[in-house]
Amino acid sequence: MSKTESIHGTWASRWVFIFAAAGSAVGLGNIWKFPYIVGENGGGAFVLVYLACILMVGVPVMMGEVLIGRRARQSPVNALHELATETGVDTRWSLVGLMGVLAGFLIFSFYSVVAGWVLHYVALSGSGQMVDLGQEQAGDLFNGLLADPSTLFLWHSLFVALVMTVVAGGVINGLERATRLLMPALFALLVVLMGYSSTTGQFGNAWNFLFGFDFGALSWDGVLVALGHAFFTLSLGMGAIMAYGSYMPKKASIGGAVLTIAALDTLVALMSGLVIFPIVFATQMDPGAGPGLMFVTLPVAFSQMPGGQIIGFMFFVLVALAALSSAISLVEPAVAWLVERKGFGRLKSCALIGALVWLLGIGALGSFNFLSDFEPFGKNIFDLLDFVTANLLLPLGGICVALFVGWRLKQSISADELAISNPLLFKVWYALIRFVAPVAIGFIFLQNL
Ligand code: PHE
Repeated sequence: MSKTESIHGTWASRWVFIFAAAGSAVGLGNIWKFPYIVGENGGGAFVLVYLACILMVGVPVMMGEVLIGRRARQSPVNALHELATETGVDTRWSLVGLMGVLAGFLIFSFYSVVAGWVLHYVALSGSGQMVDLGQEQAGDLFNGLLADPSTLFLWHSLFVALVMTVVAGGVINGLERATRLLMPALFALLVVLMGYSSTTGQFGNAWNFLFGFDFGALSWDGVLVALGHAFFTLSLGMGAIMAYGSYMPKKASIGGAVLTIAALDTLVALMSGLVIFPIVFATQMDPGAGPGLMFVTLPVAFSQMPGGQIIGFMFFVLVALAALSSAISLVEPAVAWLVERKGFGRLKSCALIGALVWLLGIGALGSFNFLSDFEPFGKNIFDLLDFVTANLLLPLGGICVALFVGWRLKQSISADELAISNPLLFKVWYALIRFVAPVAIGFIFLQNL
């Protein structure tokens, strides 16, 4: 049975859903992570594979997640349970929802640390401490932060508190207004920053680096990173979009909304690349510098451009807000699930989950200082959390969603929820989620074994 409301609330309109889901999708993944993994994986060929993953795997799976959520109007764990029951298949499909809850916690624990870096830079630029930075000073500034666990701890704690306050406020009151302002402002600032980057004289080189294809530079490992990032950046494979879909109004078209979200997300990532790489090349930095890339390139730019103090401050504030609106969706599936299990108010669920991710995050922030020698599987905790979630758990969650929707769920349920009037388009989507997505994900996994 198709329901019209979730007990947690319903977005006021199709646009509110689009903004909320785009708020989840656009985050540190676009501005911080995308540029540095492009740099580490050699540029254009990686970007091409990433774009293909977004279009051929990400978009169809996102439609699958939204339709599951909206059909069942419950948290991912219970939604999968209910639809499996409705179709008469094994109810253990709900374990996929549980795996998503776990992935959300693990992502949150390192996400919050990076968001903490951003908050620190808000404070630095707001208090006028980002003047006259050369590349070396910017590097020292960042490394100094990493080496200082108490500062990291402070910002991480503040970020967890902020996120949990918004989530405790509930679906409708928490986010809607913030994201409406956030996206246009973020776009505007990225355009301004691209303007600055074009004065470095390296815009053309950056363009070629991002869009010139050199497949020699790409390894199978890089292909897995591209696939994993497609899931990470679209918030797929762990239930965030499924949860947001459960609050989507009945009449709104899923396909159109999903394409809009994916397009916005991709645009922000590519724009971030076009901001950061000209500066990288102009200052002769290494594009493969890793997670610190944004934090050492942009401060140099801000300290040198006219009005850079204010622009820098505004930029970091916006990135912090983008991180906030993403982090909220990392815990929403878990919170909604606890609330549905009764006996747990929203507040109590948030307190419980907040405490958990806060503790996990302490391990992640320690990887740069007091735990830096602890390297299970040859990676520090921070890198390990990133690898396990983005490269394993999210694609695994994605393949399960694709198999469930493509092979288990009654086709009539999908057709009914998606309500695509053009039968050919429906067939294309069905082929993508039934064959292309599982085969592509499975193949890339196998190549990496
Ligand atoms: N999509 C977010 C980003 O790009 C991260 C995220 C992943 C959020 C998974 C929710 C779920 O920053």
